Amino acid sequence: ARATIGLTGLAVMGRNLARNIARQGHTIAVHNRTTEKMTSLVEQFGDEGDFVPTETLEEFVAAIERPRAIVIMVKAGAPTDAVIDELVPLLDPDDIVVDAGNAHYDDTVRREAALAEKDLHFVGMGVSGGEEGALNGPSIMPGGSEHAWERLRPVLTSIAAEVDGTPCTTHVGPGAAGHFVKMVHNGIEYADMQLIAESYDLLRTVGGLEPAEISQVFREWNDGDLESFLIDITADVLAHTDGDTGAPFVDVVRDAAEQKGTGRWTVQSALDLGVPVTGIAEATFARSISGHTEQRAAAAQTFGSDLARVEVDRDTFVDQVRAALYASKVVAYAQGFDQIKAGSEENDWDVDLGDMATIWRGGCIIRAQFLNRIVDAYAERADLPSLLVDPYFADAVRDGLEAWREVVATAARVGVPTPAFASSLAYFDALRRDRLPAALIQGLRDNFGAHTYGRTDREGTFHTLWAGDLSEEDQS
Ligand code: 6PG
Repeated sequence: ARATIGLTGLAVMGRNLARNIARQGHTIAVHNRTTEKMTSLVEQFGDEGDFVPTETLEEFVAAIERPRAIVIMVKAGAPTDAVIDELVPLLDPDDIVVDAGNAHYDDTVRREAALAEKDLHFVGMGVSGGEEGALNGPSIMPGGSEHAWERLRPVLTSIAAEVDGTPCTTHVGPGAAGHFVKMVHNGIEYADMQLIAESYDLLRTVGGLEPAEISQVFREWNDGDLESFLIDITADVLAHTDGDTGAPFVDVVRDAAEQKGTGRWTVQSALDLGVPVTGIAEATFARSISGHTEQRAAAAQTFGSDLARVEVDRDTFVDQVRAALYASKVVAYAQGFDQIKAGSEENDWDVDLGDMATIWRGGCIIRAQFLNRIVDAYAERADLPSLLVDPYFADAVRDGLEAWREVVATAARVGVPTPAFASSLAYFDALRRDRLPAALIQGLRDNFGAHTYGRTDREGTFHTLWAGDLSEEDQS
């Protein structure tokens, strides 16, 4: 055995992660269920580092120094279980199994417990950055034990992206903390992308800009406080012309957005935790609406797809959309960080929110200049009640508020759906409201179901005798 680490599952992400590990000078055993992917990797990229090619799982396991570290990079769900089931009987106590896929954190909890019974360490590890990140430096979010982290640390810090000399990886927390945080990362990714899509839609339909011009707008935005990977690639995608038709690429793509599950899981978990992640939820539902093509066709036929016209000053409107995008983005991140905090408290993971912002600054899909401000916000105040009230972000939101309202109002008047913009604004207004109509909801609940209510003027639990003399009973 001469490999210091092994990786099985050599589809695009696994292959690139293996190359990254090899390029950093680690001897890596590589394996794939179908051998062809393994041989082609070694043939094409064998000179990038020290690969140990293996054809069977037995060979693979035997090629790795004990105690072993083995990374699995296959599809989440049943395929991951299948690999674990085959692998485990071949392992020895103290070996570490790392699942680098987009697993549901409940699966990670289950797998860690099952492997612990066999004296094996299991690490659920989020990896973000797509193909390019996997190869040149992803953001890596490992959970699992401190012991496993210490052993994996040299490899992970060497392959992760780096920002200002700090690697974009850290021990997120025990158990499934890593996969949970990666899930929320993806939820924020959904919200970010939906906000970008709404911006594009408004600039095109209300602002009258063509895709190539909108690409230019995004390029300019990318020079300011919106600077981020997603804004950057939006400019690229919008500038692209379809080779076959000569039409803007964005016009030849079917407008039904797909999803593999992480956004949906984020929303499901948020509902369980009682954390309002309205931006992420609207982004997930917006993808869902886009896929309901039959309903869309029926509604378009019934109501027509015409939009109302409003006159806007183009440059002013572009700037208003930028402000709305920024403010809504602050809301999306505020909600995502709230969810990480709640998940961490619920599971005793002790996740450091500032550290999460730190390791998302590079490598991952939501990497953005703005994460530096989030790092600062938590450094300033670790128990920040919401990112929105951090002085820096509060100022930013205040500055953009008028524009944000204008954009949402214009969209509603014209008939352009902006669920993420609108729900983020509603969230902001709800948070800052002195009295919410929730009081009336409590009254209704007490009226039809004697569900009781609290009073503003004294402690206790009260019920009004709605069917009787309307007197109030103290039920505490
Ligand atoms: C990342 C991405 C990655 C994947 C998304 C796509 O962080 O590198 O999030 O994990 O591309 O999960 O998700 P959907 O197919 O659900 O959009």
